[in-house]
Order: sequence, then structure tokens, then C-alpha cells
Amino acid sequence: MKVRAGAIAVLSGILFSAMVGGVCAGDGNTGNAGKGKTLYANLCIRCHGVEGKGNGVMTFTPPVADLTAPAAQSKLDATLLKTIHDGRKNTAMGAWKFVLTDEEIRDVTAYIRVLGTGANRTLP
Ligand code: HEC
Repeated sequence: MKVRAGAIAVLSGILFSAMVGGVCAGDGNTGNAGKGKTLYANLCIRCHGVEGKGNGVMTFTPPVADLTAPAAQSKLDATLLKTIHDGRKNTAMGAWKFVLTDEEIRDVTAYIRVLGTGANRTLP
């Protein structure tokens, strides 16, 4: 019994570090935030605003999401990617799959993470 518990602890340790490694170090699917910034400026800024706070020049009901808020930043990349890809029904958030490649959607998602840290001002 003791041995089995130990094995489980070791296994979950390995699993956990694999998960953290995947999220933090990137798994080859991490977008380029620099490219994402350009895409964001051209396509998203008019609604989401310079800082991503949902205070762009265009306003809507339901309101534009604050991309820097925990509500957005706590979501997994995969969830943000899906929203950008497919849009949100009955809101102003359109489906960008018709405009952006999967790689570009990853790039712009990487930039949303930068907006979340406030480090966007130091990006080239
Ligand atoms: C025409 C205005 C408009 C444009 C342009 C726009 N969005 Fe949005 N976006 C919205 C609105 C409105 C919502 C909130 C939808 C809702 O209520 O669910 C939203 C929601 C989102 C969300 C979901 C946030 C969350 O908390 O789940 C993401 C991610 C997002 N937008 C990214 C983008 C990106 C990236 C672009 C540019 C490629 C973009 N948006 C362009 C209006 C816009």
C-alpha cells in the first residue's frame, strides 16, 4: 500500500510538471506576440482598445470584453483561441477564422497575454 501511494505521488509529480511545462515553456504552439500586436492594432483595437480594456472607439451591447480582466486572462489559451476563431453568437465579437490563419490567431492570443501583464508598452 505504501509503495503504491509513493508511485502515485511520483506519477502525479511527473504529470504536473509536464502540464506546467506545456503551459509556461510553450509547446511549439505559442504565438508570436510581436506579430500579434500588429494584427491586434489593425483588427481588434477599434473595439477592445489600445490597452485591451474594452474601451475602443466602438461600443456595443453586450459590451466589448476587457481582455486584461481576470475573466479573460484566467481562460486557457485554447478557450481564447476558440472565441477568436468562432466569435460569440449574438455579440459584436465576430468569427476571425475567415480573416486570420490559425497561426495568426495564435499570434494575437499571445499578444492578449502581453496585454494582461501590461507589458505591451515595451513591445516594439
Ligand atoms: C466589432 C467589435 C469587436 C472587434 C473588432 C473584436 N472584438 Fe473581441 N469582443 C467583442 C465583444 C463585444 C466581446 C464580448 C462578447 C461577449 O459578450 O461574449 C468580445 C470578446 C472577445 C474575447 C473573449 C474574452 C473572454 O473573456 O472570453 C476575445 C478573446 C476577443 N474578443 C478577442 C478579439 C480579438 C483577438 C480581436 C481581433 C482579431 C477582436 N476580439 C475583435 C467585440 C469585438
